[in-house]
Amino acid sequence: TVLVVDFGAQYAQLIARRVRECHVYSEIVPSTMPAAEMLARRPKAIILSGGPASVYEEGAPVAPDGLFDLGVPTFGICYGHQVMAQALGGTVENSDVAEYGAATIRVTAPGTLFAGLPAEQAVWMSHRDFVSSAPAGFQVTARTEVTPVAGMEDPDRGFYGVQFHPEVLHTEHGMEILRRFLYEGAGCRPGWTMVNIAEESIDAVRARVGDKRAICALSGGVDSAVAGALVQRAIGDQLTCVFVDHGLLRKGEAEQVEKDFVAATGVNLHVVDAQERFLAALDGVTDPEAKRKIIGREFIRVFEEAARAVVGEAAAEPVEFLVQGTLYPDVVESGGGTGAANIKSHHNVGGLPDDLRFELVEPLRSLFKDEVRALGEQLGLPAEIVWRQPFPGPGLGIRIIGAVSRERLDILREADAIAREELTRAGLDRDIWQFPVVLLADVRSVGVQGDGRTYGHPVVLRPVTSEDAMTADWARLPYEVLQKISTRITNEVTEINRVVVDITSKPPGTIEWE
Ligand code: XMP
Repeated sequence: TVLVVDFGAQYAQLIARRVRECHVYSEIVPSTMPAAEMLARRPKAIILSGGPASVYEEGAPVAPDGLFDLGVPTFGICYGHQVMAQALGGTVENSDVAEYGAATIRVTAPGTLFAGLPAEQAVWMSHRDFVSSAPAGFQVTARTEVTPVAGMEDPDRGFYGVQFHPEVLHTEHGMEILRRFLYEGAGCRPGWTMVNIAEESIDAVRARVGDKRAICALSGGVDSAVAGALVQRAIGDQLTCVFVDHGLLRKGEAEQVEKDFVAATGVNLHVVDAQERFLAALDGVTDPEAKRKIIGREFIRVFEEAARAVVGEAAAEPVEFLVQGTLYPDVVESGGGTGAANIKSHHNVGGLPDDLRFELVEPLRSLFKDEVRALGEQLGLPAEIVWRQPFPGPGLGIRIIGAVSRERLDILREADAIAREELTRAGLDRDIWQFPVVLLADVRSVGVQGDGRTYGHPVVLRPVTSEDAMTADWARLPYEVLQKISTRITNEVTEINRVVVDITSKPPGTIEWE
């Protein structure tokens, strides 16, 4: 394990992902964790992340006491570099000249991290404070015009630091520098591979569930599908998957779960057709929050009924485990695997009644989204499921602006299917994070088709690029692709006579319209 010490902001997650891309397992820990607790996790290396603070600020996060006495190779990045310098007797100063964005470093001594790399390299910087002199025992390995100590190391003690961000793609040789720290500086071995992850997770689930039974709610999304497939591999027919078809899915998605997923995994599937029930509950509702609440509430009720039915089917051996597709970022955000994380997990299933108390199995708890996709491929799931765009729980219900009805759902489903089809045809699936198509059901505009006047509805195309949905940018889809989508939608979906593109970033816009 490599521990990534989180000094705030979102740098730590990216670093942890990059470490794993070097095939070394990594975990994020808060900077407030005592050094002894870190040591108890038997880390092969420690990485100190960047952070938004200045080391001088009152209350700025510091390295835990004794961290630099653990004898564990340690790599400081940006703020972590400054923390290391300050703790070991170097000096950190405040500069009038900030260095944000692209910069060029000059390697002054190759040392461990820059060995074999060019003397000048493009890097990504984001700092105002800087290390003005390295601690005793350190060699300065790189500088820029404004930063005298852009890199430093003391290989005998296993200490390394860089002012720039090796984890961002704008740093030309960032991955190589990180890899050199892990392999050369810390002696890590590349053992974190998909085959190992799959085998270990399957064994862990088998050990946990034993000969008990488990239930899993499939949403049609990637996470629940991979979690279900993995648990199926571990315990076979002791697992029952429940799929609630609420009628708010996109074209072909229910079939994907009912046919392709079952074919790929051989899982026991219990399907509940709840379309009428959801439509009735949503009848005439236009407020976005009200829609979400209703859909969430109905989902819990339907799932609860299904769970009772499944439990009832085999009353002699009660279902004891509930499988959930919780991912590592959720775990980190709710407290990094401490008590807080469990509270959030339980939240996901909402208020299941007391006599349906399950223990949770969360086989994806330590994985990032890209790892979950790779694991899905490893488990033999079809690409259409593994590479699905993220899709909100309330489904198309929050992509119809206005009241939801079967007719409106059918219109949106057709338009959405065309947009997805053309995106796939253009080979752009993996470049686009999400591509909502939104029906402005209460808006009408005049058009002309053939010889006749039309009075139809607009749809909004909302393709975005993003890393994690926290922020997003509107995607610059090629004009030809947009044109194809527009022509096909207006030709093939008669109720729609206008197609518009949403060019708002997030912030200020959210990805979804409701
Ligand atoms: P926004 O619209 O807030 O969405 O930018 C961020 C991400 O979250 C998804 N989303 C949801 N997912 N239940 C979900 O499971 C919801 O109620 C929900 N609302 C938004 C959205 O699709 C995007 O990926």
